[in-house]
Amino acid sequence: RTTIARIYADPQAFADHDVTVAGWTRSVRDMKNFGFVTLNDGSCFKDLQVVMNVGEVGNYAEVAACGTGSALLVSGVVALTPDRPQPFELKATSITVLGESAPDYPMQKKRATREFLRTHQHLRSRTNLFRAVFRVRSVAAFAIHRFFQERGFVYVTTPIITASDAEGAGEMFRVTTLDVDNPPRTESGEVDWSQDFFGKATNLTVSGQLQAENFAMSFGDVYTFGPTFRAENSNTRRHAAEFWMIEPEMAFCDLEGDMEVAEAMLKYVIREVVDSCPDEMEMFNKFVDKGLRERLEHVASSDFARVTYTEAVSILEEAQAAGHAFEYPVSWGIDLQTEHERYLTEEHFRRPTFVTDYPREIKAFYMRANDDGRTVAAVDCLVPGIGEIIGGSQREERLELLQARIEELGMDPEQYRYYLDLRRYGTCEHAGFGLGFERLVMYLTGIDNIRDVLPHPRTVGNADF
Ligand code: 4AD
Ligand code: MG
Repeated sequence: RTTIARIYADPQAFADHDVTVAGWTRSVRDMKNFGFVTLNDGSCFKDLQVVMNVGEVGNYAEVAACGTGSALLVSGVVALTPDRPQPFELKATSITVLGESAPDYPMQKKRATREFLRTHQHLRSRTNLFRAVFRVRSVAAFAIHRFFQERGFVYVTTPIITASDAEGAGEMFRVTTLDVDNPPRTESGEVDWSQDFFGKATNLTVSGQLQAENFAMSFGDVYTFGPTFRAENSNTRRHAAEFWMIEPEMAFCDLEGDMEVAEAMLKYVIREVVDSCPDEMEMFNKFVDKGLRERLEHVASSDFARVTYTEAVSILEEAQAAGHAFEYPVSWGIDLQTEHERYLTEEHFRRPTFVTDYPREIKAFYMRANDDGRTVAAVDCLVPGIGEIIGGSQREERLELLQARIEELGMDPEQYRYYLDLRRYGTCEHAGFGLGFERLVMYLTGIDNIRDVLPHPRTVGNADF
């Protein structure tokens, strides 16, 4: 058996050869004495055109009666067709119907809406659009690994279940084996977490950063790539409860070095996807976002913009004064909202933009304090169409300052003892960032909803399958 991708890779080599392929019908057309089947096996974006003749295919009537989505095993001869749109077709000698698709197959419609397809997560990867999205997802994931591996980074996996809140935002999913209807209680009436499985309260991780830092202090350059969970009650196009994050962490590296790696990584992945998924890119370009490929090509070959938070706020305030209506008014100290991020990257800079040095009060406890006393060495990377896709920082490597910050925020120092140890034993300048993988896939495909780049999305109110 061969795949459709292998034939497309070198049709000449297959010309006049017998081959057998297995796949699912996308259409079956019966012209009485002969018929056409378009078959896709998932090996590539393109379909295989199968021609069958009544005289040659014994069970012609059975095949002709198959609906869209049926599984077939087809044997035949590859015939080059230089004057047709497709470069070759398969002249069937025998066809086995492996699994017929029932007449109520929901993926029949040529142009089902993405909202409709979202209610059929188990079938939607059979459509052109979703096959394209999920192949790009796979190619992008591998490109990220290759980027870091080529640069000598060590891949580290970090725990999914954890007792610490890496971001200090309290947006965690509790993990417990206690009887939730009737949990054990302490004398004061609170839930007694010491009787839980781990002897303490635990959660699904919101970030692998803290553990990645441990490994950066031994390997120098490391990265994680794994699932993360946030119980943010944000029902938006760019928030999921379960998403994948890539978190590089680099010893002897400052914020400048952090941005260099982030920019090089994004350009590398864009190049890889544009070069190795031409059919998928063409499909996005045609049906999702007309300027996509050109824009990505441009991004891969030009510099990102860089601006401090304070400068960014001035730009937004000027826009506000000139009459641009933001839903959330802008002033120094606010956390930038999606509308502000998009204004900066879409209207002002018109390219990916790094915003650095955010106010201390709106950022996580581990970020390095700047000398001005009111900002930290943070960086977000914003891209047109989405806003933030990367959040990172230089870490506070000074023991006293970090300890003081943890106490100031009312966090439990005992919980962060290991983290503080890194500042006791050979501390050094270090930095890292987190790339939201789904937001990257949105950027690469032009798809504007995170639910459509996750194979089986989990968002507020939705955890099917
Ligand atoms: O900015 P965040 O919260 O940063 C961190 O978690 C740091 N510990 C990263 C680090 O420095 N190692 O999240 C990083 C990125 C965001 O920029 C965004 O792309 C993505 O993760 N992200 C989400 N993606 C989808 N759904 C959500 N609910 C997300 N929350 C964050
Ligand atoms: Mg962030």
